[in-house]
Amino acid sequence: MPFIKTVLFTGVAGLALISCSPSSTPAKSTAKPAATAPAKVEPAPAKAEPAPEPAKVEPAKVEPAAATPEAAAPAAPRPMSAKRLYLRRTCIACHGRNGAHAIQQYPNIAGLDASYIKKQIKDIISGKRQGSPDKLTGHPRAESMRGALVTADGEARISDDEIQVLADWLSKQPRAQNEARSEALTDEGILVGKALFEKSRCRTCHGAEGNKPLKGYPHLAGQKAAYLAEQLRDIRDGARTNGRARIMLPFVRKLSDDDILAIAGYLSQVQAGE
Ligand code: HEC
Ligand code: HEC
Repeated sequence: MPFIKTVLFTGVAGLALISCSPSSTPAKSTAKPAATAPAKVEPAPAKAEPAPEPAKVEPAKVEPAAATPEAAAPAAPRPMSAKRLYLRRTCIACHGRNGAHAIQQYPNIAGLDASYIKKQIKDIISGKRQGSPDKLTGHPRAESMRGALVTADGEARISDDEIQVLADWLSKQPRAQNEARSEALTDEGILVGKALFEKSRCRTCHGAEGNKPLKGYPHLAGQKAAYLAEQLRDIRDGARTNGRARIMLPFVRKLSDDDILAIAGYLSQVQAGE
């Protein structure tokens, strides 16, 4: 018969698998075949690429309350959920659960502006953003991330679409709160940092207390002190010049290393805004 159509109801989550003529659907279902499955279905030809997972159409969750991180996922069905992608691409090892905490001097990335996140990931992958050498490893600071996301042959292990999905998702995660306060950071030091932040007009672009930046710029409140200090030094000294970093130069040029430590300490202790 020319038009054999076998419709299988696998019973697994009501997933219907439609098999048309043998050649047209190479897609291989990963679902366990139900016990009642007729034996007619030929095994799909082995393909080099694993078939994309069957698109799970998640019902769009509308209630903004009950904010589980997943609820913030984009409504359109994607090949892999953002959260899963975040685990699979090993971001979690360095940036912590949902983009907050983990390795001490590595940045919290939860709640940053989506376009900023996207740009930084791309610049790190392309090598435009490297940073000064890390004292521990001797390699430029962004090298560890690049090493995780780029093969030895220089091929990115992450696609542009995946970067977009991750950026959108991360931008909706709650910002880190309560960064650990180092013993060296005194109440007086925090006040000195606050005064320097005001005097240096950092708020022009990063908002009051570094909490409400201009669109596309990073917030600073609640970020890790060690990371903030490294970036300030790198931007001041010209080791970080990607993106719009250069427009900051006139504001940081005159800051001493001690000034930078004070500002970074202060900002790390500011309660992060929404
Ligand atoms: C091996 C550790 C490591 C892994 C894995 C890693 N990163 Fe990073 N990431 C870093 C480090 C270190 C920096 C800061 C580099 C610097 O100091 O200049 C960074 C910076 C960033 C920034 C810029 C933050 C800012 O405030 O400018 C973003 C965004 C980011 N990472 C996202 C990701 C995402 C998304 C993944 C997974 C796809 C990922 N990273 C995987 C270590 C890592
Ligand atoms: C004219 C606008 C402007 C001013 C003023 C400014 N910044 Fe920035 N700052 C930026 C932009 C834009 C970036 C992101 C650069 C990029 O595109 O990579 C940035 C990045 C940073 C970063 C790195 C953040 C991260 O997540 O990696 C730190 C830290 C920072 N600024 C601190 C300061 C401090 C402290 C001051 C005041 C001394 C200041 N900035 C003044 C525009 C500004």
